[in-house]
Amino acid sequence: MFRGKFGDSQGTGYGRHRIYLRGMSEQPKRTLVTSALPYANGPIHIGHIAGAYLPADLYVRYLRARGRDVVWVCGSDEHGAAITLRARKEGTTPRAIVDRYHEEMQEAFTGLDIAFDHYDRTSSKEHHAFAQQFFLDLLEKGAFTEETRQQFFDPVEQQFLADRYIQGTCPKCDHDKAYGDQCEKCGSALSPDELINPVSTLSGATPEMRETTLWYLPMDRHEDWLRSYLEQGELDGSAHHDPKAWKSHVIGQCKSWLDGGLQSRAMTRDLDWGVPVPVEGAEGKVLYVWLDAPLGYITATKNWAERNGADWEPYWKDADTQLVHFIGKDNIVFHCIIFPILLKERGGYLLPHNVPANEFMNLEGDKISTSRNWAVWAKEYVDDFPGRSDEMRYVLASIMPEQKDAEFTWEDFQSRVNNELADVLGNFVNRVVVLTSKYFGGKVPAASGEWTETDVALRDLIAATPGQVGDAIEKFRFRDALQHAMGLVRAGNKYLTEEEPWKVVKQDEQRTADILNLTLQVTANAAIVLAPFLPRTSARMAEAMGTAELPWDAAGGDLVPAGQPLGALPILFEKVTDEQVEAQRAKMGPDAEALGLRDVEPEKPQTTFDDFQAMDLRVAEVVAAEKVKGADKLLQLTVRTGYDERTVVSGIAEHFSPEDVVGRKVTLLANLAPRKIRGVVSQGMVLMASTEDGGLRFVTPEEGAEPGDIIR
Ligand code: 2FM
Ligand code: ZN
Repeated sequence: MFRGKFGDSQGTGYGRHRIYLRGMSEQPKRTLVTSALPYANGPIHIGHIAGAYLPADLYVRYLRARGRDVVWVCGSDEHGAAITLRARKEGTTPRAIVDRYHEEMQEAFTGLDIAFDHYDRTSSKEHHAFAQQFFLDLLEKGAFTEETRQQFFDPVEQQFLADRYIQGTCPKCDHDKAYGDQCEKCGSALSPDELINPVSTLSGATPEMRETTLWYLPMDRHEDWLRSYLEQGELDGSAHHDPKAWKSHVIGQCKSWLDGGLQSRAMTRDLDWGVPVPVEGAEGKVLYVWLDAPLGYITATKNWAERNGADWEPYWKDADTQLVHFIGKDNIVFHCIIFPILLKERGGYLLPHNVPANEFMNLEGDKISTSRNWAVWAKEYVDDFPGRSDEMRYVLASIMPEQKDAEFTWEDFQSRVNNELADVLGNFVNRVVVLTSKYFGGKVPAASGEWTETDVALRDLIAATPGQVGDAIEKFRFRDALQHAMGLVRAGNKYLTEEEPWKVVKQDEQRTADILNLTLQVTANAAIVLAPFLPRTSARMAEAMGTAELPWDAAGGDLVPAGQPLGALPILFEKVTDEQVEAQRAKMGPDAEALGLRDVEPEKPQTTFDDFQAMDLRVAEVVAAEKVKGADKLLQLTVRTGYDERTVVSGIAEHFSPEDVVGRKVTLLANLAPRKIRGVVSQGMVLMASTEDGGLRFVTPEEGAEPGDIIR
């Protein structure tokens, strides 16, 4: 063991450890973490993962490692137009869609080691019952106004149109495909009547206005308390949270909503898919998806508690609990304004303590788009890179869009995996283990306790790192946290290279033992602080250190005692090859099969209009045909052009007999310079299409075209 102990600042380097531990009084008794319920209308891509799931997973893994009481819930959002429109497009039912994607999304999450405590779904009976009761409670408390208003109605589909059922030009940015609830280009929240030139996304028809009765949430009533909650972190006159701990873009978006004045928002819809409005006479009406979905967090907590013999209520009602919502920036208004209003109106529920929304992840220079297949699908990644979830987690955490939009590229993925994970982390751990086996029979060598200045600097870093990583994670600065954790590995790697134990061993065995002991301590400490980011790698590193358990609170000092036998170390990271990068890039973009696209020869280089004009294409008619002697492939055709009759030799004899072609109208390249083919002078070329099965077809002009007609 090291002679120095924690708290001893006399050159052991571990003296700084304690100051990074937070006092227990600052910690909440328990934390409830939620991640945005993904719409069950399509697969999960890396933009989703980097937005609301990986950061929550990192946060929760860290809190669990610190022994905190934390529960993390999520589930599929199975209502709303996203689902019904998808079902229509695929010619199936909403139920079939949600069942399919509910399963598929869970596989994607599991594959990337996104480890919710509970994953639920909003189409369940329990959720419907809970959401209905919540609605009734709100109704009873006078939270809604019942109003009869004119709404857009599709005369073809006989359906009211709201949200994504209606599209038009955005009044703010002129984007011509803004939805009735939001413009995805400029991010503005909209109501259908603000759209310019609205059309139904169902039928394309111009909507009519019809009257319907809906329940509205008059949000303007709530502006004052929302302002002090969001801007001062105060609720009901007392401090609720530190507003400076919120991301500035989140506060900024909320302020701009408040400054613009909050409008009433309809909390019900005239639709047949959703949670039915539990009021007599409200048949054909369902709850607005943004009323029902966040309540899914509560249903999920209840179901988690039931399955784990716990009580759900403290997680939602006890003032000692901190509620943290992980979401993408397009969900800010719902989590910071609308859901808090609903919770406060209902009473008895906690309001969010923080909403660390992330911005968007772009991909290879463009926005991620499901419809254009411009995405890296989580499930496909897991299938294509089996067992390599840590690599994707590492890259996404390194570039996480915490404060501004970020960009994923496959080249950057390759370079981070190869240069950082394989060459630094993998190489470092491998060298430490191999050298320990070679010089000390695979057992942790005892250190002398006499440390050089360089040793002390590294020991200081060991002591400081857990605090720095933890502190950054608690502030939702996951990129920084990862940099601190990797900083320790880089420092260890540099130390090993510079100390050269493979040379030192020739003269000084004790010094070699000191160097390797210290780098083993670095490895074990790195396994702890990297665990939230790289759970699989961390477990392998711990095993290589000969220990299954490396608790977070032991980090900062000696973890592997002298004499401890090391375990096996598999190769931690394979390099990502150029071929893999190319294959991944090639997958992006229009889905060839879905669009009926073929694998064809690449297009020729661009030509000019003038070059095209230089070709004289005419309709012609074949009036005679015969085989060219001694040439299996050639037919000699006599074609009538309307102004002459000429001979054309054509390479079609394997596909057509002379009788097949006589009488056909064809497209002729008339001004092709004459060429002698097998002794016959050919004056032009008959155009043919080569088919997918290797056949040939004439490019036949439409009925009515006559020899001599010019093609332009
Ligand atoms: O934007 C979305 O994908 C929504 N389904 C998120 C819902 S979050 C919550 F409130 F349920
Ligand atoms: Zn817009």
